[in-house]
Amino acid sequence: MKTSVQTLGIIMDGNRRYATQKGLPRIEGHRSGLDILVKCIEWCNEFGIKDVAFYAFSTENWKRSKQEVDALMGLLEYMLTEKKEDILKQDVRIRFVGDITKIPKKLQKLIVEMESQTKKHTKTVWICLSYGGRAEIVTAANTITGTITETNLEKSLWTADMPDLDMVIRTGGNHRLSNFLLWKASYAELYFTKTKWPAFTKQHLKRSFEWYEKNIQINNGK
Ligand code: FPP
Repeated sequence: MKTSVQTLGIIMDGNRRYATQKGLPRIEGHRSGLDILVKCIEWCNEFGIKDVAFYAFSTENWKRSKQEVDALMGLLEYMLTEKKEDILKQDVRIRFVGDITKIPKKLQKLIVEMESQTKKHTKTVWICLSYGGRAEIVTAANTITGTITETNLEKSLWTADMPDLDMVIRTGGNHRLSNFLLWKASYAELYFTKTKWPAFTKQHLKRSFEWYEKNIQINNGK
């Protein structure tokens, strides 16, 4: 299937509820969520998506229990080491966006390594990490000395070279943006599904693209 979505954002919600429903510890939901994230990079590649951004860890997520934050950092390390080969096989550029200075130093090093190893590829996977849309805009505004315009502010964003999002998918049943890519999502179509992230499949992704095609036809006709 061909899709006209070129730039996609994904809010991966519902990991803990998925685990709880299955009678598993909450971290198991995040672990399964990471597997789906890596698979989803492959699916997006197959659908020809040029840029896909995943909301992996928000500024607000730092407020979760130390145990959960440590477990998520552990999963990040697992992604940057054990899962690295699977990601590199996809021939995509990996970019991490957010306040990376808050991430443990040894992981920052692995992040820089992965970014530089993949920089020659044209399709880009954006991992939003320690990321908040408001923080991104405020940080950009603070770099500007003269008058702030939309053009110069956009150039100073962490996501300066990310195109505007065509569509945002949010799993897990909630209908909100939760501080995700506020600037780049300004004109995005918003797709919500009750499916919890660890249960998300290639078929669900295809369904979201079909919805998008129908929806933009309706919107263009108005
Ligand atoms: C939201 O589900 C998901 C997250 C806070 C983290 C998403 C993380 C992954 C998919 C794993 C990869 C992570 C890293 C850092 C590489 P939730 O915990 O809010 O679930 P709930 O809505 O059921 O409570």
